[in-house]
Amino acid sequence: MRIDIISAVPDLLESPLSHSIIKRARDKGLVEIHVVNLHDYGKGNYKQIDDYGFGGDAGMVIKPEPLYKAITDLTSQRDYDHVIYTSPDGEVLSQGLCNSLSTARNIIILCGHYKGIDHRIREHLITKEISIGSYVLSGGELAAAVICDSIIRLIPGVLTDETSALSDSFQDGLLAPPVYTRPADFMGWKVPEVLLSGNPRLIQQWQEAQAVERTRRLRPDLLEDPEDIK
Ligand code: ADE
Repeated sequence: MRIDIISAVPDLLESPLSHSIIKRARDKGLVEIHVVNLHDYGKGNYKQIDDYGFGGDAGMVIKPEPLYKAITDLTSQRDYDHVIYTSPDGEVLSQGLCNSLSTARNIIILCGHYKGIDHRIREHLITKEISIGSYVLSGGELAAAVICDSIIRLIPGVLTDETSALSDSFQDGLLAPPVYTRPADFMGWKVPEVLLSGNPRLIQQWQEAQAVERTRRLRPDLLEDPEDIK
């Protein structure tokens, strides 16, 4: 998979995309991530990318020209499955959406900007708008990092134990069961007896029951609307 991220603040993406599982995926060649600095497409000596919004609303809006140039520079080189814009207006990211995005070959993610981008770009060049939740971030970079992380870990070969993505919360529509490690008794706080039993059938039954109980108690909405995660 190749992901091109267009951002006015590329430094914000540096650390989240250079460590841990994403780093490993990049090192193994399972994902290629390129960050495009929108200012490279800005106008004049100051590389201007924004301007006052029409209609008297205070605040700067990203101009259409640099966005158009940055996006078409990429789309003229290869086909993209999705040209995503991160925005609180978009479809809320779910495990189902992550699963579907993880099968793409090439993706562009255009990071939103606090006062927005010229709407014509959204109408004509963006194919999908994604929100990471019903709250407002200062910019789309953190949302882009969340989208990258949640889809890259689903690419086959990225996680060392392939079953570990399958046992994630949400993959089967339920929250994950609790996990424990040694010591079995920590200051009198004990690991559930069944996990020490060595009986795989009993352990699996316990884990399934825990997943259902936790989902019912903590996220009953998931049981009512499984479409949210499919
Ligand atoms: N930009 C600002 N807020 C956002 C959100 N909640 N999701 C995605 N992009 C955003």
